[in-house]
Amino acid sequence: MAVIPQPDSSARISDPATVPGAVPQAAQGARPAPRLLRKVLSLADFEAHARRRLPRPIFGYVSGAVEDHLSARDNREAFDAYGFKPRVLTGAVARDQSVTLFGKRYSSPFGLAPMGLSALTAYRGDIVLAEAAQRAGIPAIMSGSSLIRLEEVMERAPGTWFQAYLPGDPAQIDALIDRVARAGVQTLVITVDTPVSANRENNVRAGFSTPLRPSLRLAWDGLSHPRWLVGTFLRTLVRHGMPHFENNYATRGAPILSSKVLRDLSERAYLNWEHIAKIRRRWDGPMIIKGILDARDAAIARRHGMDGIIVSNHGGRQLDGAASPVHVLPEIAEAARGMTVMMDSGVRRGTHVAKALALGAQCVFIGRPFNYAAAVAGPAGVDHAISLLRQEIDRDMGMLGLSSLQQLDASYLVPVRPLPGRMPAAPAAGD
Ligand code: FNR
Repeated sequence: MAVIPQPDSSARISDPATVPGAVPQAAQGARPAPRLLRKVLSLADFEAHARRRLPRPIFGYVSGAVEDHLSARDNREAFDAYGFKPRVLTGAVARDQSVTLFGKRYSSPFGLAPMGLSALTAYRGDIVLAEAAQRAGIPAIMSGSSLIRLEEVMERAPGTWFQAYLPGDPAQIDALIDRVARAGVQTLVITVDTPVSANRENNVRAGFSTPLRPSLRLAWDGLSHPRWLVGTFLRTLVRHGMPHFENNYATRGAPILSSKVLRDLSERAYLNWEHIAKIRRRWDGPMIIKGILDARDAAIARRHGMDGIIVSNHGGRQLDGAASPVHVLPEIAEAARGMTVMMDSGVRRGTHVAKALALGAQCVFIGRPFNYAAAVAGPAGVDHAISLLRQEIDRDMGMLGLSSLQQLDASYLVPVRPLPGRMPAAPAAGD
């Protein structure tokens, strides 16, 4: 009987150079990775380190969710409603986890979600995140509520996507979109799940506000976290001046620390699809709506010429009780008919990525863990986070018997907990 030589899969996994699209060691820079990263074995492990590193109000802002944290909990638990049905003996030795989005090939099916104020948690945070994504060949979305000028980030990491919060006034919208185009952005994301500001009691309790208000308590929070104070905040002040919101408008916004200035958070509830239609006429590149949870809105987005949508409940930070994207992905994927469907909120594991893809997503985005990774270890931290997830996906593909992600569909899943079913039809009038 012929003996088929088997590759040593444990060796493949432990050697990042053999994981498809892995970050080459040389690309990680000459500095050795901080020792604490040796203890970070999964994306969730970053949180405890970030809690120690960051002042309480700032950690509270990143980690927190809204009101009773119902959506945040659902985001964690929704993936558990599905079990896998792996296929065996498929000979999946070469596993390709690349995906193509809007005509571009990315080396893994996940990217970095937009997060405001990233330069407050990590020194030059937006640049750290965007450059790490570029090194790894995965998408990163820069937030409009960021503290570094968009133009600077685009110069350092030209493929970065930009997420806009639309300002209140049509002329300001046009000016912002024109500025984004001039900066060289190709892929525009518009977040639409913030019609009014969220009830973040968590921020109030943690002492967080934008701008931050100088107080004895804030000073103590900073002084008791000297590595953040010196390595992130003072270093930023000395080298770049007081950070301001740079990209909510075509012009500069409020500073991050002020006793008096009020941030101009214009009312967004009046925004409607006509604003989107107008931007569509102005924007040539791929255009994506972030924050969709209803198949009807996905269909409207498609009719308005959107290239993609991100199914998201904003990491449980907007409407508490908004469903986890996992529950609504299948019906949204069906309504999308050709539009690229992406999702975020609660993705922490390679198995989560596999489940999201099996349910109809083409790519997922991840927020908090990358923010923590940048906060605790800068570029090396984000490289490590990307590499961990990439290795999990490779291992999961091996376990599922997949050589390519295109093979993954709902037939690989089985509900192992009761799934939220369809709502009963509304009674007919007169019933
Ligand atoms: C966010 N999110 C977000 N979304 C957006 O469209 N624009 C933004 O400026 C921000 N800002 C922001 C800041 C912080 C600190 C967090 C944690 C999140 C939401 C983000 O893009 C994404 O939807 C969620 O973070 C995904 O959930 P997970 O992966 O954090 O569970």
